[in-house]
Amino acid sequence: MKAIALESYGAADDLRLVELADPKVAPGEVLVRVKAAGVNPVDWKLAAGYLDPIMEVRFPLISGWDVSGVVEGVGLDATEFAVGDEVFGYVRKDWAQNGTYAELVAAPVRTLARKPAALSWEQAAGAPLAGLTAYQTIKRVGLAKGETVLIHAAAGGVGSLGVQIAVALGARVIGTASERNHDFLRELGAEPVTYGDGLADRVRGLAPDGVDAALDFIGEGAVDVSQQLLRARDRVASITDGEAAARGGHYVWVRPDPDDLAELAALADAGKLTVPVEHALPLAETAEAWRLSQAGRTRGKIVLTV
Ligand SMILES: NC(=O)c1ccc[n+]([C@@H]2O[C@H](COP(=O)([O-])OP(=O)(O)OC[C@H]3O[C@@H](n4cnc5c(N)ncnc54)[C@H](OP(=O)(O)O)[C@@H]3O)[C@@H](O)[C@H]2O)c1
Repeated sequence: MKAIALESYGAADDLRLVELADPKVAPGEVLVRVKAAGVNPVDWKLAAGYLDPIMEVRFPLISGWDVSGVVEGVGLDATEFAVGDEVFGYVRKDWAQNGTYAELVAAPVRTLARKPAALSWEQAAGAPLAGLTAYQTIKRVGLAKGETVLIHAAAGGVGSLGVQIAVALGARVIGTASERNHDFLRELGAEPVTYGDGLADRVRGLAPDGVDAALDFIGEGAVDVSQQLLRARDRVASITDGEAAARGGHYVWVRPDPDDLAELAALADAGKLTVPVEHALPLAETAEAWRLSQAGRTRGKIVLTV
């Protein structure tokens, strides 16, 4: 099969389109013919070696954890799926090596769910990691109907899905973004505010009594600003600030979860969740996709078509 691989830790320029043996399919796994693979900032962070202290990484490394595709083979006792099933998933395994930037990936069934019909292959590939992150973060702060939530970096991959999930729950959403993304946030159902100096005052302009919960999808002091605005200081969860728990909030690291993934699929099929795909590039242009991701200005998601 063709895949995008790295021989050792490196960057976009080190990515190579290579021919590798098709993956073996272990018990409890299925073989997925990849239609599209989502790009996430963690892909290039892992490739650069930033996660080396916390995660086993083996080479050659095929990057990528997000996938949409069709089941082409079924391992022993992988009874959840059959050949021909259309699936999507966050295929994070026990160590990083055989990722989704490839024509085929062997995926543990615990990482997959049935692809929602309402999403295209590209949209479905953009949904799992970012959608699960947003969903699990929202659950961690216990967001409820009628509450007001502040979402930092609401226009990005995690943020654009988080806004929609919070709106679907019946929350009022205030989201931070640069002005060029304000109409985009309004379309998703959020009230936009510009980030940077004076953010707390601008949020108070919209919500004079403060907010019930806050989600930090960017870092850069967002937990501190949130705690100035929260009625209860512990109702902030961050995906970027490892000190969030030490300061009385929560730190979330997304987990593969087939039930949560099925919830996202149900929201999509109910017309409450879509995946804005800003860039869809062919697998051979992964390096360009990474450069776009690294610029930090993505509106929604970047995906690779396979
Ligand atoms: N812990 C976990 O499990 C987990 C999971 C997923 C992601 N992450 C991390 O979370 C971060 C976000 O991930 P992502 O996939 O959403 O990234 P992304 O799609 O690349 O985010 C890009 C967005 O960030 C916005 N942005 C940039 N600087 C900002 C600021 N100071 N305040 C508010 N918004 C700002 C940009 O909006 P403008 O163009 O309008 O500025 C852009 O829309 C990354 O660091 C990623 O590695 C962690």
